Amino acid sequence: MSTPINILILAAGLGTRMKSDQAKVLHKIGSQTIIARQLRTVAELSPEKIFIIVGHQAEKVEEIARAATNEAIAEKLHFVLQSEQRGTGHAVKCAKGVLEKAHGLVLVINGDVPLVKADTLRKLIAEHERGNSAATFITIRIADPPAYGRVIRDENGRFMKIIEERDCTREERAITELNPGLYCFNIPALLVALDKLEPRNAQNEYYLTDVPEHLLAAGLTVGTVLHEDARELDGVNTRAELAEMWKRLRHQTLNRLMAEGVTIIDPDSTYIDDSVEIGRDTIIHPQVIIEGNSRIGRNCEINSWSHLTNVEIGDECRVLNSCVLVDTKLTARNSVGPFAHLRMRAELAEEAVVGNFVEVKKSKLGRKTKSMHLTYLGDATIGDRVNIGAATVTCNYDGKQKHQTIIEDDVKIGSDTMLIAPVRVGRGSVSGAGSVITKDVPPDSLVVGMPAKVIKKLKE
Ligand code: UD1
Ligand code: CA
Repeated sequence: MSTPINILILAAGLGTRMKSDQAKVLHKIGSQTIIARQLRTVAELSPEKIFIIVGHQAEKVEEIARAATNEAIAEKLHFVLQSEQRGTGHAVKCAKGVLEKAHGLVLVINGDVPLVKADTLRKLIAEHERGNSAATFITIRIADPPAYGRVIRDENGRFMKIIEERDCTREERAITELNPGLYCFNIPALLVALDKLEPRNAQNEYYLTDVPEHLLAAGLTVGTVLHEDARELDGVNTRAELAEMWKRLRHQTLNRLMAEGVTIIDPDSTYIDDSVEIGRDTIIHPQVIIEGNSRIGRNCEINSWSHLTNVEIGDECRVLNSCVLVDTKLTARNSVGPFAHLRMRAELAEEAVVGNFVEVKKSKLGRKTKSMHLTYLGDATIGDRVNIGAATVTCNYDGKQKHQTIIEDDVKIGSDTMLIAPVRVGRGSVSGAGSVITKDVPPDSLVVGMPAKVIKKLKE
């Protein structure tokens, strides 16, 4: 595609029918907001600039949109405030200043169409260029039309205008070709037509949908492209529609994963975000939730009631029942749970095991290290082949600050050991049950008591 492409997302509306204090684009489908989904999609078109019209909760929308993008895209974002929502045409008018400085085409996208695919937008642009049009928009057909703008054609099938449902006559209302709210415009033509808009309609609003008619009147060409998959372009207007959309997307994702060789035992009770990747022969048990930017390797098993968010899991790992893993990395052949909580960059090296009722926060466990029962490991770096006895606690917080615990290779921490951080336990040492380790333990030492003292060197 040679012509520069700009994107303009209409996101100022509150979405009255959501009955929410939250702007519509901030509602989520799976773990991603509507606006984040749209930004991810339009980023695939390598746009010059992305303009977002904001109004309701402008600051929050801006914050979330920025957080949802990488640096390269964030640089392209420009927010335009529409302080009073006087219609989609008015929203685009608010961007006149920035559009005057932009080059090429602008794709205008309703902010409430979350699942539109980049390929669909590419098709729109291709048709726009092929037809040498001033404007091109997508149309869909729905037999029992929702409250969408109707596409009006003359007796030869040539496009004439879009009429909003509320402004339709009874015959017009029966038309099944509809406007889903995705348009491509030549910027200069759009700018001229925007000046001609008038709020003469049932809602007293400036309608973007009147622009094509003005362009035709000026002797310019308006193209349309019929999109077969109407569902892809569904708008979200209510919470029920939002839930329905998530359900459909979820099943698409599960079908994709199964086609790629993942066993999903019960798709109806499994919640996996569309962004998640899972390797073949991995088994996902019922009632599992996997969200965010998560990757799971081959031959893994994720058991019931576990909730995984932003995880990186290597091959042959097992997550047993009822675990919560957030921002966690399992390297390979790890076992976690049941009832384990790993979070904030918890990391297990190969074959490390974390068992029942163990919490691991911002800590790294080395190869073949085991912590099997009732333990808190926070801000800790633990070496290879370490055994952490039941009920061990890294006492990492002194009431003001967090401190580090370092446990070197081949250490055995006895049951009920308290490690008062900052503290280091040297390689090969052993702590007796109930020890309270308040200062560094040299290598190869046996410590016991409270405070723990060296009672024996383990190597002569
Ligand atoms: C619009 C179209 C209609 C189409 C439908 C598809 C118009 C006049 N009508 O109607 O033909 O079938 O979408 O869903 O465009 N917005 C603003 N500022 C405003 C008003 C709206 O930013 O002043 C944003 C909203 O946040 C939303 C989008 O524009 O993301 C569409 O607005 P909405 O009010 O939902 O339009 P519809 O009535 O659905
Ligand atoms: Ca709408």
